[in-house]
Amino acid sequence: MQIIHTVKQLRLALQGQSPIAFVPTMGNLHAGHLDLVNLAKQQAACVVVSIFVNPLQFGANEDLASYPRTLAADCEKLAAAGASIVFAPTVAEMYPDFDGQNLNQSLTVQLPAMANDLCGASRPGHFAGVATVVLKLFNIVQPQVAVFGKKDFQQLLIIKELVKQFNLPIQIIAADTAREASGLAMSSRNGYLSSAEKVQANQLHATLQTLVEQIKLGPKDLDFSALEKQAAHTLQTQGWQVDYVAIRSATSLKAASAQEQEWVVLAAAKLGATRLIDNISFKL
Ligand code: PAJ
Repeated sequence: MQIIHTVKQLRLALQGQSPIAFVPTMGNLHAGHLDLVNLAKQQAACVVVSIFVNPLQFGANEDLASYPRTLAADCEKLAAAGASIVFAPTVAEMYPDFDGQNLNQSLTVQLPAMANDLCGASRPGHFAGVATVVLKLFNIVQPQVAVFGKKDFQQLLIIKELVKQFNLPIQIIAADTAREASGLAMSSRNGYLSSAEKVQANQLHATLQTLVEQIKLGPKDLDFSALEKQAAHTLQTQGWQVDYVAIRSATSLKAASAQEQEWVVLAAAKLGATRLIDNISFKL
């Protein structure tokens, strides 16, 4: 496995390689990320994994400085998983006009209204930062296939929209969410949780599961807004600061109607200082 830090060297290493399967990450890898690598390996002999904590997608009061950076351990895991190339650029490499303070990425991707909803509502600019860095990475790696996790469901839909609307010749593959035995979705941010919080954290998934069961009993006469409020209240009484609980169409992310075929229930909430997200998508 090669570890590469510059665009120039990556382009050299990828010359003549086809097909390429690509897994973009911010590192601090867990079993969920490695599932993505395994899916990528099924698609192509050449698997590129990027590790880059992208400043453009973090808000001013978010955890950019404290986000865990564990490159050496990540590379060991990726070598064992059979990745071909790790691309771990610096901020200056990814943002050519970076002056040590400002990224000066004056061209960015403008996103549809959907990106201002749910996580986008409490993280303004987040998804524009994600879409912009993913477009840059796609241009650098030029993969035929890219793998993203359903764990970040809104992100996945935005990337699919990016590929469709910008006519990128890339197939997007969605990987199921890897979970701890408790049901807690694996996340690099779980490391911020105290041991007591980690025990409690499965409540987020449990609340979503209850919602799914209620909908599966028959959505026809359900008051979705009341159900969302009830689920948020359950979490609040357990000590969570709830950002949203939402019942949506899994294809458009718009409010679900009773006739929906593909559903997703999503939630974001803070346990102590740690913001966690989770979702469950399902068909009726
Ligand atoms: P990161 O949070 O590191 O996640 C990288 C990829 O792993 C994403 O596609 C994410 O959905 C997936 N992933 C995370 N946890 C998962 C889990 N428990 N099960 C399955 N997949 C999981 O998402 C990002 O980085 C960034 O926004 C990025 C796309 C790299 C752009 O900077």
